Amino acid sequence: IPVDDFDLVIFGATGDLAHRKILPGLFRRFVAGQIPQTSQIIGAARTDQDDQAFRDQAGKAISEFAGVKKNDPRLAQFLELLGYTPIDAKGEGGWKELKSRMRDGAVHAFYFSVAPSLFGDIAERLAGHGIADEDSRIVVEKPFGRDLESARALNATLAQHFQEQQIYRIDHYLGKETVQNLMAVRFANILFEPLWNAQYVDHIQITVAETVGVAGRGSYYDKSGAIRDMVQNHMMQLLCLIAMEPPYHFDPDAVRDEKLKVIRALEPVAPNDIVRGQYQPDGDEPGYIEDCENPDSRTESYVAMKVRISNWRWQGTPIYLRTGKKLRARTSEIAITFKEPPHSIFDDTGAPKANELVIRLQPNEGMNLKVMIKEPGPGGMRLVQVPLDMSFADALGAEGQDMPDAYERLIMDVIRGNQTLFMRGDEVEAAWAWTDPIINAWEDSKQAPEPYDAGSSGPDEALRLMHRDNRRWREIR
Ligand code: BG6
Repeated sequence: IPVDDFDLVIFGATGDLAHRKILPGLFRRFVAGQIPQTSQIIGAARTDQDDQAFRDQAGKAISEFAGVKKNDPRLAQFLELLGYTPIDAKGEGGWKELKSRMRDGAVHAFYFSVAPSLFGDIAERLAGHGIADEDSRIVVEKPFGRDLESARALNATLAQHFQEQQIYRIDHYLGKETVQNLMAVRFANILFEPLWNAQYVDHIQITVAETVGVAGRGSYYDKSGAIRDMVQNHMMQLLCLIAMEPPYHFDPDAVRDEKLKVIRALEPVAPNDIVRGQYQPDGDEPGYIEDCENPDSRTESYVAMKVRISNWRWQGTPIYLRTGKKLRARTSEIAITFKEPPHSIFDDTGAPKANELVIRLQPNEGMNLKVMIKEPGPGGMRLVQVPLDMSFADALGAEGQDMPDAYERLIMDVIRGNQTLFMRGDEVEAAWAWTDPIINAWEDSKQAPEPYDAGSSGPDEALRLMHRDNRRWREIR
């Protein structure tokens, strides 16, 4: 279904995110017939160039990152929607020109693909020049602050010029098809929800493992670390969708109210419930210290932690989170391990094992439910655990193969005015309020991160975090 006619201004249009994600995502939606031919996509950045130069640049980026041939006629058609206005975010240059390009009657959206230090300047000028009004939408990217104080300050800055209903804070994990699928699995089936609580769930593991290191972005990453870069936002969102109560409706505030309650119910994490790691050099391959060019760095490229949610549903069920760079495989998954049946009627024939539901977010998106059955054969009643394994691509055929990128979905939601998959200001602040003490305790300590080998599953110490509780991490593969 096509969205309404729109004018989308991308601040920072010459940057990496615009090239890799925003422009290719818009192109794919255009090819899918979702973007009206009359819409405008206006790049705005410091570089002094004209419309044609920006189109050429965008064309190159799209052919590289959307895997389309440069001479594909659909690309030429799409590039006709593009324009460019050089802009001085901290001065007055370019704003009048930008205003003159905006059309009455179209949806107006402004994508802040720039450093957060510029959010205030841009917001002020958009409002001051009358370019944005109460119907306009703004899109902001992570990092949304680096602690509670800075996140509050950013929220306050944006609030001077925009209402909460106009602010779309992106966490691209929420745009991933399989992340949204968590809600479908939980709330569109009767099967799981009655068991989805501490009475039946032994524990939950959430893993986001990456094979890439931080080379090329070490200076950003070293000031951030895995907790700020992944846990406060992406993993927190996964945790919320897994743990929240059913919202009364699939509606922006109903969903976000429930997520907020989960964040507020998170207990503080004790220092011995968390393990940080740094990847080591591997032959000629640099280690974390070399990649971030800071020999004294104590920043974590890996973190594992045990989290508890203090509410009726989850009291007593730990949730283990782990994420890291340079691990054995790129895999993101959520595994729910149920409790064993309370009593076994099968003597000496292999005790029942716990059921396990694994939701694979990427790659090879799908679900796997481990169930006990009788081992075939005449040898009596022997039990064996087998997987009910489903890959979404196989189950859904062509539609399952063609999963849209997170950004495609999210940008279209901005134009539609649907905030369900965007973070609300209070949600972001609550997430920082929980991570701040974890980060501060580490900064005050003298501890060093645990070393781990590139290509491994992380530091040994993280294994002990589980063994201590008589549990094991799932294999990363
Ligand atoms: C980004 C982080 O937000 O998410 C990166 O800054 C990380 O460090 C990336 O690599 C992971 O996203 P995805 O979509 O590749 O899982």
